[in-house]
Amino acid sequence: MSEHLIIFDTTLRDGEQSPGASMTRDEKLRIARQLERLKVDVIEAGFAASSNGDFEAVRAIAQHIKDSTVCSLARANDRDIARAAQALEAARSRRIHTFIATSALHMEKKLRLSPEQVYEQARLAVRFARKFTDDVEFSPEDGSRSDPDFLCRVLEGVIEEGARTINIPDTVGYAVPELFAEMIRSLRGRIPNSDKAVWSVHCHNDLGMAVANSLAAVQKAGVRQIECTVNGLGERAGNTSLEEVVMALKTRRDYFDLHLSIDTTQIVPASKLVSGITGFPVQPNKAVVGANAFAHASGIHQDGVLKARDTYEIMRAEDVGWTTNRIVLGKLSGRTAFRQRLQELGIELESDHDVNAAFQRFKDLADRKAEILDEDIQALVSDQALQSSTEDVFRLISLAQSSRTGGRPHGEVVLSVEGCEVRSEAEGNGPVDAVFKAIESEIGSGAELLLYSVNAITTGTESQGEVTVRLGRGGRIVNGVGADPDIVVASAKAYLNALNKLQTRQEKLNPQL
Ligand code: KIV
Ligand code: ZN
Repeated sequence: MSEHLIIFDTTLRDGEQSPGASMTRDEKLRIARQLERLKVDVIEAGFAASSNGDFEAVRAIAQHIKDSTVCSLARANDRDIARAAQALEAARSRRIHTFIATSALHMEKKLRLSPEQVYEQARLAVRFARKFTDDVEFSPEDGSRSDPDFLCRVLEGVIEEGARTINIPDTVGYAVPELFAEMIRSLRGRIPNSDKAVWSVHCHNDLGMAVANSLAAVQKAGVRQIECTVNGLGERAGNTSLEEVVMALKTRRDYFDLHLSIDTTQIVPASKLVSGITGFPVQPNKAVVGANAFAHASGIHQDGVLKARDTYEIMRAEDVGWTTNRIVLGKLSGRTAFRQRLQELGIELESDHDVNAAFQRFKDLADRKAEILDEDIQALVSDQALQSSTEDVFRLISLAQSSRTGGRPHGEVVLSVEGCEVRSEAEGNGPVDAVFKAIESEIGSGAELLLYSVNAITTGTESQGEVTVRLGRGGRIVNGVGADPDIVVASAKAYLNALNKLQTRQEKLNPQL
């Protein structure tokens, strides 16, 4: 029997720490539901003490998720831990993940604490967390740059206090596979009670080695939990990518010989959902979930794959959840067929009202686009969730734009601003610029446009466009997303989505600052 490897997903916590990736409670809940379908063992739902919004998100996830353990991060102090415990109260299976930095640099410059104080605080934190749950995880932040002797002392102490998982973070992505694995192997060998805990790693991708570091620790140091995120989202260059480690472990089972509970057919839907909600597009050549991951462009490869698939394919596209762009529905499809397809795609809408609204959008789309594919339905539902938030201040009612060669494009928008209808118009360098200027001439947000990108959701010029807009103001960065067959309309929706996010007060602590 192969040993089990725990997949700990931190998309909703570390992933959310990427600039612009902040999510609402409902968005987090949708992702958590997808992570549960993916069958991840642990969902780190957030950092409950960081804001009321995060507390509510962790609480909602704890209430709804039944099959995965729900975890909250907490700094090593009583207030954070009590808040995490409170948010997790309803969870069927709960974990508190507490941490404190242990490298000389972090202790001295960031925490301004002596090693002795850090040692005490770590022990007290785990002792306190154990009052709320048996499942306590401890991380020595900046572990890969910490003094091994000091780490031995702290880790032995927290295991004595009852930490059941010891997670070694490579917080700044500094580790290299062999040295990282050797460091953990040596810690496990030197700490007398190390066998009382499951060992875990949490790697960042600053040098592009997060996946390699995680796998080396598994293979060479007996680590049995990997912390990772969908699409490798996370602080700076991101975290270990869930899809990459999972598929490496599955595809090379001959080498790793470990058992995972993951349903790999849910990987691509999870990737699309996370990308759609956060507005972080997936690069086309990204392993497993990139649009080109299974595309064979060269004639020799195409020929080989047609003759025998495994000549150039080591994984099957359908095993990771790529659908074959089936024409699923059309103009004449009824409500029952639509509902059934939603179910097959694992899309759960909250109420009949939501299903009816999605069906109406589907009918509108089918009037403009002959073939409705799975991706269209996924985009349509995501867009509906984005555009129907009751907290939105700005909404697009209608838009008109005109452009011709040699002329200056003109845009006109009708918006709802706090329930009142307003109109404005402007000229611009292109139709999108004209529409953004028209919106700004009414709203005057003062935000800076940091990124604008358009993706075709399916192939062909009939495809819906999915637009991401990143805005920055006063040090805050947000992403907005919008989808529509008309990319100017998709752009306006994305812009307004970002402006709505800027409106919300989201004072949130970064746990690591
Ligand atoms: O990168 C890191 O060190 C972390 C810890 C809080 C686990 O995210
Ligand atoms: Zn991290």
